[in-house]
Amino acid sequence: MAAGRKGSRTVQAAGSPVVLGPAALKALETWLNAEARHVRHFVIGDENTLRHCLPELQGQVPPLREARPIAMAAGERAKSIEVCHALWSHLADQAADRQAVLVALGGGVVSDVVGFVGATYKRGIRVVNVPTSLMGMVDAAIGGKNGIDLDGIKNIVGTIRQPAGTYVHVPFLRTLGKRELMNGVAEMLKHGLVRDRAHWSAVCAAPLHDLKALEPLVQRSAEIKAGIVEEDPNDLDTRRLLNFGHTIGHAIEARSWESPQRALLHGEAVAIGMICEAWLSWKRDLLSREALDEISRSIQERYRPHPLDPVDHHRILQLMANDKKNADERFRFTLLEDIGHGRINVEVTAAQVTAALDHYRLLMRDGPKEAV
Ligand SMILES: NC(=O)c1ccc[n+]([C@@H]2O[C@H](COP(=O)([O-])OP(=O)(O)OC[C@H]3O[C@@H](n4cnc5c(N)ncnc54)[C@H](O)[C@@H]3O)[C@@H](O)[C@H]2O)c1
Ligand SMILES: [Zn+2]
Repeated sequence: MAAGRKGSRTVQAAGSPVVLGPAALKALETWLNAEARHVRHFVIGDENTLRHCLPELQGQVPPLREARPIAMAAGERAKSIEVCHALWSHLADQAADRQAVLVALGGGVVSDVVGFVGATYKRGIRVVNVPTSLMGMVDAAIGGKNGIDLDGIKNIVGTIRQPAGTYVHVPFLRTLGKRELMNGVAEMLKHGLVRDRAHWSAVCAAPLHDLKALEPLVQRSAEIKAGIVEEDPNDLDTRRLLNFGHTIGHAIEARSWESPQRALLHGEAVAIGMICEAWLSWKRDLLSREALDEISRSIQERYRPHPLDPVDHHRILQLMANDKKNADERFRFTLLEDIGHGRINVEVTAAQVTAALDHYRLLMRDGPKEAV
């Protein structure tokens, strides 16, 4: 970790700086000022982030006052080839050259789309991430994965390309809704579970409405994500730690979209996935019963129960099996050896997944006594 300007510090993610602390936006100003004068900046956000966050960004980062903001629609649907087309056209109309810098001001949708547009426009121009959602700050804006959805399949087209920098300014969270905040908290809990027990305990104990209390925890989570990416930029081994809760969680998320009145946010599905996968870790004799109970209790206290039906189990397994990495009804999971220690590449059978889903279903129906 490198000390930056007073009030900021920088960690590296695959060689890409992630700047944390109250002076993060000052550090962005310094970086932009160090660029040649004729470099043009384009700030791209969605309708919410341009309204709530752009005035503060331009107030604190004078070189961006000249930049004409570009608005995209808010929400997952904007991760489309049509939105990319509109952005590529806009850049071409404005004669943006290869020196231009795109500033992605928003949550994961904005950084995923802008990262992809930046990776492809004129074969690649620089992108700076300024995340405004908690999910963006602790996860999406770090690590270089970008992309769009196609025919209902998430993130199927995209690249891995590191941003020129990520600047994490926690006060942007002031205007983020509670449900969106909890969406990001799920990833913070995961970071603690796979890497850092003290962080897990701190996130569990944090008053989430208090941004001052949350700030160091957001920074720690961003640092954990960056550290894991720095160790394994190409997703070959260590980065799989970040999959904890996601193998089952992704399938539950996809299943929930099939009945829109029950649609879950990603983090909400991951919270369920973490309960199921912690149970699998216990069942496989990796995790103690005490640790399992602590994890289940802490997550249940924070997230609304999501009723599952045995019919869902079959569909969830189908959705998991579509993932080509997991052929033959055997799945490779990231499980837990302890709170703070993940283990990658544990083989799990379809029957064990079904048992884990049953565990969750009964837990929601009957409460903790059934958690065996
Ligand atoms: N590339 C990666 O590594 C990675 C990792 C995790 C998630 N993702 C992707 O990120 C997306 C989810 O990200 P998200 O949860 O940030 O969703 P999002 O970008 O849709 O943001 C959620 C909502 O909050 C609004 N918002 C954002 N910041 C705000 C603020 N400060 N004040 C008020 N409103 C604000 C947005 O306009 C949006 O309506 C998904 O598409 C997911 O696939 C990518
Ligand atoms: Zn996730």
